[in-house]
Amino acid sequence: MFRRNLLSIADLTNDEIEEIFELADAAEKLGADKVAGGRIMATLFYEPSTRTRLSFESAMHRLGGSVISCSDMKSSSTAKGETVADTAKVVSSYADVLVVRHYWDGAVQAMAEHAGVSVINAGDGSHEHPSQTLCDLYTLKQEKGRLKGLTVVICGDLKNGRTIHSLVYALARFGASVVTLAANGMELPQYVLERLEREYDYTLAPVATGDLKAVVTETDALYLTPKQPHQLALFTQLDPGLQTRLDTIVSGLRYDAFYMTRKQKERMKEGTAGNSYPTIGSEFLREQRFKNTVVMHPLPRVDELSPEVDKDRRGIYFKQAAYGVPVRMALLKFLFAQNDTKRAGVKKLPTWFESPETLGPQCANPNCITVTEPASARRKFDFLAGGPGGALILRCLYCDHRIKVQLVGHVKSKRYCAYDIALSDTIKDWFENKELAIFDSIKAAEEIGYEPYKSGPQRNIMDETAIENAVRDIARQILRDCDDPDRLLVLGIRSKGSYLAQRIAAELAAAQKRKIEIGEIEIYGSGDEIRRLFRAEPEAGPLNLKDREIVLVDDVIYTGRTVKNALDIIFRSARPKSVRLAVLIDRGHREVPVKPNYVGKHIPSSERERVRVKLREAEHDEKDKVVIYSIISPVEQQVGGLG
Ligand code: NCD
Repeated sequence: MFRRNLLSIADLTNDEIEEIFELADAAEKLGADKVAGGRIMATLFYEPSTRTRLSFESAMHRLGGSVISCSDMKSSSTAKGETVADTAKVVSSYADVLVVRHYWDGAVQAMAEHAGVSVINAGDGSHEHPSQTLCDLYTLKQEKGRLKGLTVVICGDLKNGRTIHSLVYALARFGASVVTLAANGMELPQYVLERLEREYDYTLAPVATGDLKAVVTETDALYLTPKQPHQLALFTQLDPGLQTRLDTIVSGLRYDAFYMTRKQKERMKEGTAGNSYPTIGSEFLREQRFKNTVVMHPLPRVDELSPEVDKDRRGIYFKQAAYGVPVRMALLKFLFAQNDTKRAGVKKLPTWFESPETLGPQCANPNCITVTEPASARRKFDFLAGGPGGALILRCLYCDHRIKVQLVGHVKSKRYCAYDIALSDTIKDWFENKELAIFDSIKAAEEIGYEPYKSGPQRNIMDETAIENAVRDIARQILRDCDDPDRLLVLGIRSKGSYLAQRIAAELAAAQKRKIEIGEIEIYGSGDEIRRLFRAEPEAGPLNLKDREIVLVDDVIYTGRTVKNALDIIFRSARPKSVRLAVLIDRGHREVPVKPNYVGKHIPSSERERVRVKLREAEHDEKDKVVIYSIISPVEQQVGGLG
């Protein structure tokens, strides 16, 4: 049976969203026509709610339908250990639509897979909250008459706020611009930015806005916009001309709306909630520049939005909450109509990756349903080709987080090897033939009987002494170029870049007879992306990148995309004075305009070759060396018996 769900804002096209808005305009008529007469909605809220739940229930009543509910999921069978999958299956036979809020990312999608009726996501963990976005967009449209070309400043906890995540995707799709004003350490997660860029051609330019600082403190501003020249984010040392141009772009912006959010304390580890948080209050109201800027908030507010704004015509958040009823009436009507009229369409063949082996890759998000309750959701991933450095990236189908593929295996020959860009065609064939295994660790592969592939003959291209000399040489050049050693920060790209960063910093420290600060940057993690490598003292706060002279360090540069990603992360968190790049090996084959400032050795290599830097910190009993070898395709291996 065909049924429509609303799990992510991506489940609706722009035209469908417009259609829902038209229905919302005529909500009174929908009510008079009792368009949901005879239907039942079940509300299952595993997390607190006032607006979302009550406005959904009110909407259903107004449409002539009825509502069943568990007053508190803690008093449901959940308390006895029932899975969300079973709950969904059971409640589906009592109702025509389920409205679900859950504390796990992806839980509502898992329930939709087991439900026999339409499911609406009323908020899943810190992932998405699409029906809130419909209310937000509807409110904005009512106030401003359009969405295209608006500039919306999103404020507060952009990391954990699910309303924010659904909203930015939608704003991107409707051609609005977004200025992000995140509380310290609560910036938009990398997976959200990645999706904005990949799917909506939406890029980010870091712009500090003195403009906004006047009213919202404690934060740097970043500017996300469609069709912005992408290269902006790549310049490691913004020249003053370009900087002025960027500042003009932003100071010339008309801010149409501030979308404030509360700190999502319940999703933070204890002790990480921090103290500083942007607030909106009387200063905002006094600023002439914001005389036409409306203030929105999904509510509940805590203390980030002063009640002073309530009385002002620009404070429209209670209206926004009130629109919850007509918009949700429209949404319900839309879903019912779709279910009634559409036939089961062409069955789409699944194109996602599901491990054929008992051990497979695991989503890196600890709050993902595939991790918290694997019985309800088998791990499934989309392939995203062309990650940094040609990396193969998996996107979790439930929570959207990304993981980088490290080890691939061939199911028939039970062999595994490290993933390399040169293997991409082979991997495609394996995947299509259902012969592809992916592992998180060698231990996992070997536990189920996989053995390593043998590679072609290796050639040593750098030995211990050569590496030592290269590190010393790089350190010498860094000092030569450095304006102020006090501002120097050596930032290694995890993991081999970090080891090299430590070695370079040790050389610098010896030459300068002072401590050099070292940090580590993680390109595909789910936790903090930039961190100190050694705590100077227990009190030392998070690494400060602002106005620093950063030396970014990696072992090998190839396509350059890893570096590009690292730069994006750096500039998203602050504006350093400069960023220079040091690598041990430059292989060539760049895809982006990035050139290292310091190179240990240039090794022009073919795409079928692999270069591996072996460092004693990672290999333990081995000596430092750099080796190069060719990749033998599995076909040749079978024919030649090399496997
Ligand atoms: C939001 C939520 O639950 O995500 N509230 C809502 O639905 N209006 C925002 C929040 O809790 O901060």
